[in-house]
Amino acid sequence: MNIDSDRQRQSLQQQLRRAVDRLRAGRLVALPTETVYGLAADATNAQAVEQVFLTKGRPADHPLIVHCHATEQAWQCAASVGVNARRLAAAFWPGPLTLVLPRADWVFPAITGGQDSVAVRVPGHELARSVLERLGRPVVAPSANRFGRVSPTCAAHVRAEFPDGDVFMLDGGPCEVGIESTIVDCRHPTDIAILRPGRITTVDLLGALGTVSKPRSEDAQTVRVSGNLKSHYSPQADVVLLDSSRISQWLDEHAADAFTTLVIACGGEPRNLPTRMRWHKKPTDETEFARVMYALLRLADEQRFDRVAIELPTGDGVGLAIRDRLTRAAHRDADTSGAKE
Ligand code: TXA
Ligand code: MG
Repeated sequence: MNIDSDRQRQSLQQQLRRAVDRLRAGRLVALPTETVYGLAADATNAQAVEQVFLTKGRPADHPLIVHCHATEQAWQCAASVGVNARRLAAAFWPGPLTLVLPRADWVFPAITGGQDSVAVRVPGHELARSVLERLGRPVVAPSANRFGRVSPTCAAHVRAEFPDGDVFMLDGGPCEVGIESTIVDCRHPTDIAILRPGRITTVDLLGALGTVSKPRSEDAQTVRVSGNLKSHYSPQADVVLLDSSRISQWLDEHAADAFTTLVIACGGEPRNLPTRMRWHKKPTDETEFARVMYALLRLADEQRFDRVAIELPTGDGVGLAIRDRLTRAAHRDADTSGAKE
């Protein structure tokens, strides 16, 4: 027993060393975080940063989050840090929160998509923290999926995204949060706004700050958040959003469809479920649903369903973040209507 755990510790130490060596050499590492897996590269190495864009197929104008070991390192990425950003960092770091701040000069325009702001976060996952501490420099780490696709929440998901890529896998098991960090715009010292909802909710932020404004409409133009694209987080299967009160009606209306459908909804499987449909019981707890949501979207693809129909949560906490992601997963641009990415 002791020998086994010693071996496991040794092998983890080796994995950590390899991950850090690779980052130092300008290569990519799939890094577990508490939210989703990130595709990490040394943030101080321009070529490594470029490799992230190439590997993900991400457009150059979509900025990356800089991940830091400690709050002080995060502040070094910023030209100035207001009192509200400091309050949020003290309340939620390390953890699933990203702050957008005025950019420090050293931060490459490639990281920020040419903007004068930078997104920073101190992740809470023990392995991510160990890597960052040993590396002694920040890393950029977008979610470790090809651009526009479902974020990975375990090592197998990352491997499926980049089967041939030069990406070292640091396996930290399944991610605890399951959806990407909450992004808060702290460019203006007093005027704080949520750019991307997440596990840290408006109520949580209010508790730390006292006041949070709704995202300002001009942010859509002045701040580029790729998660703000209407179509994002998409599986191959078409995503249909179900209203809790209309599920049986929807099943009746679509009973004769030729498509195969994975139905993810609360409660037990209804009697007389149409033969081309499979029922998957959805966790009623929203935090738990967030944890497994992306894995369920991937399951629909692995099992080659044409369509996945999901009951939307109604809550204003994590439910808001789930609705945000699922609405984007369901969206098909008009000119690619019906097309699979
Ligand atoms: O939980 C997370 O945040 C994960 C894990 C790996 O840390 N990362 C993640 O990265 O979701 P990514 O690249 O998939 O999403 C980063 C988001 C994008 O929507 C991007 O546009 C936004 O952060 N972002 C980055 N820099 C920004 C900036 N300067 N201003 C506004 N948004 C920014
Ligand atoms: Mg992403």
